[in-house]
Amino acid sequence: MRVVRSVAAMQRLALNRRGKGRIGLVPTMGYLHEGHLQLVRAARRQSDFVVVSIFVNPIQFGPKEDFRRYPRDFRRDRRLLESAGADVIFYPAVKDMYPEGYATFVEVERLSDGLCGASRPGHFRGVATVVAKLFNIVMPDVAVFGAKDAQQVFVIRRMAHDLGFHTRIVIVPTVREKDGLAMSSRNVYLSQEQRAEAPVLHRSLVLAKRLVGQGERSAAKVRAAMRGLIQRESGGRIDYVEITDTDELKPVRTIEGETLVALAVFFGKTRLIDNIVVRTGSCEL
Ligand code: PAJ
Repeated sequence: MRVVRSVAAMQRLALNRRGKGRIGLVPTMGYLHEGHLQLVRAARRQSDFVVVSIFVNPIQFGPKEDFRRYPRDFRRDRRLLESAGADVIFYPAVKDMYPEGYATFVEVERLSDGLCGASRPGHFRGVATVVAKLFNIVMPDVAVFGAKDAQQVFVIRRMAHDLGFHTRIVIVPTVREKDGLAMSSRNVYLSQEQRAEAPVLHRSLVLAKRLVGQGERSAAKVRAAMRGLIQRESGGRIDYVEITDTDELKPVRTIEGETLVALAVFFGKTRLIDNIVVRTGSCEL
């Protein structure tokens, strides 16, 4: 496994590999956990040359967010990626990705506005920009993302489609701890008490799915039930609990067909997100 630190060297390597088999890319911000490793394994299965990028992307963090204190441990990440079967770690410096005078950004309209985009202005502009850059540098045939960041998946798919990237976007289901908590690099911020309460987020999503399964179609009622559960069983501060369609991510009043149930909740300063897709239909007739 090679570690490539410069953008130019990564681009040369990718140009050299192109045509000799499929290039797979897994973009990450490091501090890897089993969720990331599942993405790497999916890339391993679907491509011949697996590049994992580790880059804590400053432009997707707001001024009051955790860019500086975002957890980092390159040596541990390298060990994990070696055993997961990555071929290359692309580990660029901020000044190589955004040199002095950098001025170009990618904005995906509408899809970036609601959900996390509403409470994190500029976040998806930063994500779309860095992923577009990574696609140009690594030239992947396949890029793998996690369903945990649902809105990110929608934004990247749209960006890749609109800008004509040839990269196929592959999505891996959310990997969870035994108690249901979605794995996240940010879980290390949680106190013992917060960590014990955090699985309520997944329980609230399961509750939503059960209510819809029992025939509930009112988004307002499902959201109220979820909020009630989270408030009763944790000290978490709800950022949003939202139910949207899976085309434009617009909130729905009536749950019909394929629907995204998504939430963001603060435990202290730590903001956790999770989601589930529910489906009505086929067997209802
Ligand atoms: P990061 O949070 O490091 O996540 C990297 C990838 O791992 C993303 O595609 C994310 O959805 C996926 N992932 C994280 N936790 C997961 C889990 N529990 N189960 C399945 N997949 C999981 O997301 C980012 O970095 C950045 O925004 C990035 C795309 C790298 C752009 O900077």
